Amino acid sequence: MKSDSNSLSVPEGFELGFVKSDDEVDEFIKFNTTIHNELIASYLERRLEQLPDFKRELNFYIRNLDTGEIVSSLSAIPSTWEYDGVPLRNLELDCVGTSEQFRKRGFIRLLYSKFQGELNRGEYHISSLQGIPEFFRQFGYDFMFPLPQFSHVALRVDQIPRIMADDTPSFMTLNIRDADIPDLDEIIRLFGELGARLLVRSGRSRELWKIQEQLRKWRAFDFQTKIVEREGEIDGYFRYVTHGEDSPMSLVWSTSSIDVIESSITSYDGVMRVLHYLKEIAIKDGIPLIFLPITSADNLSRICIDLGGTIDTAWKYQIRVPDMELILRAIVPALERHLKGTVFSNLTRELTINTYHNCYSLVFEDGKLNSVRDLGVKPWGDLSIRYHDLVRLIFGESDLLELKRMHADIMFSGDIKAFIDTLFPKGESHIHYCYC
Ligand SMILES: CC(C)(COP(=O)(O)OP(=O)(O)OC[C@H]1O[C@@H](n2cnc3c(N)ncnc32)[C@H](O)[C@@H]1OP(=O)(O)O)[C@@H](O)C(=O)NCCC(=O)NCCS
Repeated sequence: MKSDSNSLSVPEGFELGFVKSDDEVDEFIKFNTTIHNELIASYLERRLEQLPDFKRELNFYIRNLDTGEIVSSLSAIPSTWEYDGVPLRNLELDCVGTSEQFRKRGFIRLLYSKFQGELNRGEYHISSLQGIPEFFRQFGYDFMFPLPQFSHVALRVDQIPRIMADDTPSFMTLNIRDADIPDLDEIIRLFGELGARLLVRSGRSRELWKIQEQLRKWRAFDFQTKIVEREGEIDGYFRYVTHGEDSPMSLVWSTSSIDVIESSITSYDGVMRVLHYLKEIAIKDGIPLIFLPITSADNLSRICIDLGGTIDTAWKYQIRVPDMELILRAIVPALERHLKGTVFSNLTRELTINTYHNCYSLVFEDGKLNSVRDLGVKPWGDLSIRYHDLVRLIFGESDLLELKRMHADIMFSGDIKAFIDTLFPKGESHIHYCYC
């Protein structure tokens, strides 16, 4: 699965390049406006200006030398994700498009070879993307982890319990106010608490937190960050976008909505206070629906599910692991942690995992994972499993038996099942907004 397709050649009359000058930035954004739309293009432009590490050179294009016009492009956007506390470098493939008259001539395949070069050069552990059904399977991507802007818990406003006029509950004494930069330390701590309940998550540097809080832009939309506090003590925070009738998202969902894009609230009282706060705005603005993050690790979402909220996973990220040995090595501390306190905590043995293309050797000594090596092609392993299924197993999307039900070419003997389940536990993952 580790591939380098840099050998593809540029057809005569075209040039492959990357964005360098201010004029090229303008040209690149204009091309993206035509291929996608203004909302997507201005979101790209903002990230080009503000997102740390997203350099101009990570925007690749093909130019028609006859007309001088860009005819195909893609962008490579870096971010940091985490697997059970271990940082993973992610390079997201975004804003992929070719002018209609130049499609199916291999231009994106050619640009992808540049992207692949970047994946190799930057030693990225994963690559994610969000769009185009089917197309990206050819490059090794597979659907995993709900995509927040199209997946959520949906709660009707009338599902939030009523408060009787003569019986105001004590949670209504909690205060909700705008968040400010001095709140950042507490907000970051609460974000960390939420993240500790997730297996795969996105990370956020303090620098990115600051940028997000200054811009308050979630993709093309404005968001607000609010603090919930009890007698001056911060109990939680939440971020939300209001999609009125004229929002493009209201067309997608056929209704206006309040979209809580993120929250970390500690107490039950805090959750109830926020729900009534949202209900008040919704009633005032005539909005019937509230969307919550699609993860039960989020206390607000958890209680909304209990109140009758429906879980709708309309779309997922597409994920690729470019180099299995690299990611296995990176997550060694998490794998060792998974064995601690279990029957395998002092295990000494080699585990071979064969993807039918490569066989990976994991050598455990007294519960420590001392070596991870790619042994190349071998006929079998202790676990034989397709590459895509191994990625799903590692990221806790599916366990061995679920995968076995889908694909018969997963093989393992009963005596190692519990060990593999312990090493690669199933878990909930959620990718919070890591752009600006
Ligand atoms: C999808 C799209 C990017 C493909 O661009 P392209 O330059 O035509 O892609 P390529 O020519 O490099 O395609 C590579 C291979 O994928 C195949 N392919 C093209 N479009 C495909 C699709 N939608 N689904 C599956 N395979 C597809 C091609 O046939 C080619 O295979 P082949 O060489 O065996 O014939 C282009 O159709 C497009 O710009 N669509 C609209 C923009 C868009 O929706 N972008 C997503 C938002 S981020």
